[in-house]
Amino acid sequence: MSSLMKFFTFLFITIFCTTSGAVPVSNPIQKRDVFVPPITFPTNTTVWNSGEVHNVTWDISQAPVNITNKFGRIQLRQDGITFPIVLADDFDILLGAYNITVPNVISGIYELVLFGDSGNFSPDFTINGV
Ligand SMILES: *[C@@H]1O[C@H](CO)[C@@H](O)[C@H](O)[C@H]1NC(C)=O
Ligand SMILES: *[C@@H]1O[C@H](CO)[C@@H](O)[C@H](O)[C@H]1NC(C)=O
Ligand SMILES: *[C@@H]1O[C@H](CO)[C@@H](O)[C@H](O)[C@H]1NC(C)=O
Ligand SMILES: *[C@@H]1O[C@H](CO)[C@@H](O)[C@H](O)[C@H]1NC(C)=O
Repeated sequence: MSSLMKFFTFLFITIFCTTSGAVPVSNPIQKRDVFVPPITFPTNTTVWNSGEVHNVTWDISQAPVNITNKFGRIQLRQDGITFPIVLADDFDILLGAYNITVPNVISGIYELVLFGDSGNFSPDFTINGV
């Protein structure tokens, strides 16, 4: 073989071995699970007044062992739009309950969004606001 041929043979073997001959290595990243707990309070019969402190609760009974994002955030939502006001942030999602102060909003029907890995909505409930 000419040295050029040797070079291409070497190149071919190298590429072949590194692509199809690759041994799968175990993923060093810890397996973690997405956790989106359902909100259990407020319910569809809840009525809150602006300025009051209320306990938002959610079901942690289905929590996986290793949660991807352990931190929760609660925001208000209406007609499919999530308000930028953050009612609570950076709390442990495994608490299952967190007190929030009902914001000063126009009276109406609202939902809460509990963010962890993703978002879960509460049922529609009523806020008597300003
Ligand atoms: C409110 O929630 C209860 C219990 O989940 C359900 O039976 C009822 O139909 C709901 N009412 C409305 C108006 O969504
Ligand atoms: C909030 O909810 C949690 C869980 O249900 C309960 O243990 C706690 O007593 C509640 N706090 C208030 C002030 O209602
Ligand atoms: C959770 O993480 C631990 C290590 O921190 C690991 O040993 C265990 O297998 C994981 N459990 C699950 C269900 O992923
Ligand atoms: C919620 O607020 C009440 C007072 O309104 C307080 O007694 C309770 O400890 C608070 N709960 C949490 C989970 O912060």
